[in-house]
Amino acid sequence: MPTYRIAPSILSADFARLGEEVRTVVAAGADIIHFDVMDNHYVPNLTVGPLVCEAIRPHVQVPIDVHLMIKPVDRIIPDFAKAGANIITFHPEASDHIDRSLQLIRDNGCKAGLVFNPATPLHYLDHVMDKLDIILIMSVNPGFGGQSFISAALKKISDVRRRIDDSGRDIMLEVDGGIKVENIADAARAGADTFVAGSAIFGKPDYKAVIEAMRAQLAQA
Ligand code: DX5
Ligand code: ZN
Repeated sequence: MPTYRIAPSILSADFARLGEEVRTVVAAGADIIHFDVMDNHYVPNLTVGPLVCEAIRPHVQVPIDVHLMIKPVDRIIPDFAKAGANIITFHPEASDHIDRSLQLIRDNGCKAGLVFNPATPLHYLDHVMDKLDIILIMSVNPGFGGQSFISAALKKISDVRRRIDDSGRDIMLEVDGGIKVENIADAARAGADTFVAGSAIFGKPDYKAVIEAMRAQLAQA
């Protein structure tokens, strides 16, 4: 069985109690905290920046996975690294110089990754596999929590799994959007190993019960 990681997205957490929310979800079994950054420009919503990343950093030991849905990306990357991010991903359409942005993330001591919207082609991977630590496939259009899983993402995940295996590199394959207990095994069978879930976890009263149910599904995938 691959190493599966569950990454709750704070987008559906109670922002008035964010420190407590991330502590509770890690105690409930989360492996990673997924931190959605939106700018009301690249996506039609506005969330949080490095100050909030820095504020939650002392509350948890697990990696903080910063998903940048912003354009441009380079100026803010060092700020997130200083704020305690461990992983930083961005959308290739949002950077004029993708190779440079990936290198900038690594130069700042973080793991680097690209994010693919449902209609973004995978050819952006062609010349940068050696600069990637993680690839994130969106199974919804970015901007909002609580949307339905777009099943065409499964084929895309399989295509990326093949590319990673062919490369022989250790690259995480993350899926984000509409992941729930009912479909997490489908994403795992397609080849994902890291699962973002916002509303499915923070929208329920018992985070531990949801995470355990997800792990039970993954164990049978
Ligand atoms: C969407 C974000 C997701 C979102 C997922 O733009 O990138 O991380 O929080 O939320 P759910 O799991 O509710 O689809
Ligand atoms: Zn996200």
